[in-house]
Amino acid sequence: MCGIIGYVGYQNATPILVDGLRRLEYRGYDSAGVAIISADGKTHIHRAVGKLRNLDTVLREHPLTGSLGIGHTRWATHGRPTEENAHPHTIDGVTIVHNGILENYLELRHMLEARDRQFRSETDTEIMAHLIAEQIAKGHALDEAVRSILPQVRGTYALVVISESHPNTIVTAKNASPIVLGLGDNENFVASDIPACLEYTRSFVFLEDGQMAILRPKDISITDFEGNQQIVEPTTVTWSPIMAEKGGHKHFMHKEIYEQPTAVANTILGRVSMEDATIHLDGVNPEHIDPIDRLIITACGTSWHAGLIGKFMLEHIARIPVEVDLASEFRYRDPILDNKTGLLAISQSGETADTLGAVKDAKAAHAVVFGICNVIGSSIARECKNSGGVLYTHAGLEIGVASTKAFVTQLVALFLLAIHFGRKRGTLSITDGQDHLNRLREIPSHIESILAREASLIAIARRYARAKDFLFLGRGPNYPVALEGALKLKEISYIHAEGYAAGEMKHGPIALVDEHVPIVGIATAGPSYQKTISNLEEVRARNGKLIIIASEGDSRIASVADDVFVIPKTTPLLDPLLSVVPLQLLAYHIADAKGTDIDQPRNLAKSVTVE
Ligand code: M6R
Repeated sequence: MCGIIGYVGYQNATPILVDGLRRLEYRGYDSAGVAIISADGKTHIHRAVGKLRNLDTVLREHPLTGSLGIGHTRWATHGRPTEENAHPHTIDGVTIVHNGILENYLELRHMLEARDRQFRSETDTEIMAHLIAEQIAKGHALDEAVRSILPQVRGTYALVVISESHPNTIVTAKNASPIVLGLGDNENFVASDIPACLEYTRSFVFLEDGQMAILRPKDISITDFEGNQQIVEPTTVTWSPIMAEKGGHKHFMHKEIYEQPTAVANTILGRVSMEDATIHLDGVNPEHIDPIDRLIITACGTSWHAGLIGKFMLEHIARIPVEVDLASEFRYRDPILDNKTGLLAISQSGETADTLGAVKDAKAAHAVVFGICNVIGSSIARECKNSGGVLYTHAGLEIGVASTKAFVTQLVALFLLAIHFGRKRGTLSITDGQDHLNRLREIPSHIESILAREASLIAIARRYARAKDFLFLGRGPNYPVALEGALKLKEISYIHAEGYAAGEMKHGPIALVDEHVPIVGIATAGPSYQKTISNLEEVRARNGKLIIIASEGDSRIASVADDVFVIPKTTPLLDPLLSVVPLQLLAYHIADAKGTDIDQPRNLAKSVTVE
């Protein structure tokens, strides 16, 4: 996830671009850069690693002036966060910024290298600069040059391109990554998101996938990728700049819950080969991980909950023995490790001190260490690189302290790993693998359908927002979902909440049950369903109020529950990817009703870098 912006008009572009990047910085801050075509017709570029303030310092020392320019704030995907990899990338007078991931970049890079093209960065983006520059050299106009290369590139992209050959023109193209056009008076804007240019215009056009736009100071023309003119009506937005930074959502957490369908799709993107149900684990070193005969998963907080669910996936699909440890405990229990043991660290930030410590200890004991991380180039990712490697979740920047989309994408990554090991170890047939993968690919639209029914969760949240204690119950893969539901609620609403294995209730916790303690049961279809229902009936018999998450088509559940929320039917191993979503929204709306600081709850930090 990166932020991109472009300006063409009559004002000096630099402060407009920098201001826009500031509003887009939530999308990533590994590096930032701007390119300006100045009055001499030449392109001038400044880039800096780290937050935008570093670029600001460079620009104060070496100002750039010109009325056409583009800018980028990077959340690294391909290539480390270095100045060489920072955007914009320029080749032979063609300059480009890109948000997205090209799936076939290696193939294209090899093709270009065979034509003696020299690369300056490790990014997928530079490939497009070369391809467009080749077309410009053949005499094509900038829009034709961009249009002609698009059939060759596979993946997701929002591109913004300028060229010294057309010093008054910006060309943009969109496939799966967002692009908005801001319409001004004798000036026009292009950006990843509305806030970037909300200071200058309220009139916007949202480009659709498969559309391109050509921007000049006085006009914008929109075509499809074949060059057919498109008629589009601008939208006038009434948002304040502050709201818009959260894309219209009240909190980043809410926005991130809504980003889950896209995040899941991005984790899967380019990794699945359906013909033979094999998984392309880019970043992971199969020669290191394939020989392991035992796996220890280690993590903290929400990532640990993902690991607990991963154990069900890996043991069932790949028949590999899995232990799951809190990283803060693993390090101090003298674990038995050898070169046939895999140590899988799960961490959104890749910086959690205990998880990082566990990785280092395991590496010293000759275990094969590998990671599931969201933040590219993070410490855990770097530590794992020369051992088992790292599988990135590509969930995009997660700002809310309460982890949501990171969790769901960690589950996707674990499921992909389970299929990989299952196919390698011969425990999973091609047909069963294809079936699993087809179900996985349905998850984004299933999540959409849950989000579309948010109103009923708001109503439930309002009914229970005054409770002092909550219990969350589940069995099998839904037990860690119960733990996660309780964690979400306690960390953002400050209500005491506990997650339990439903079968454990009668061994003690049932003593807590009375009419004042709401109990959230996760009772989706599957082998544990009957037993879970019996446990929930026992709670109901003690006057407990029951909110139940059930599978679509469960005709019995309404007679057991006070409130029911149904989720689409999938398989028991994939149920957690869906059942957690109503729990995230329930926690969110209870916290919102209480008026707590949802994105930055008291006493917490997004990355825990102390032990
Ligand atoms: O970045 P990590 O995944 O390593 O972080 C682990 C925990 O600190 C994190 O999941 C924490 O529990 C979240 N605040 C939960 O929402």
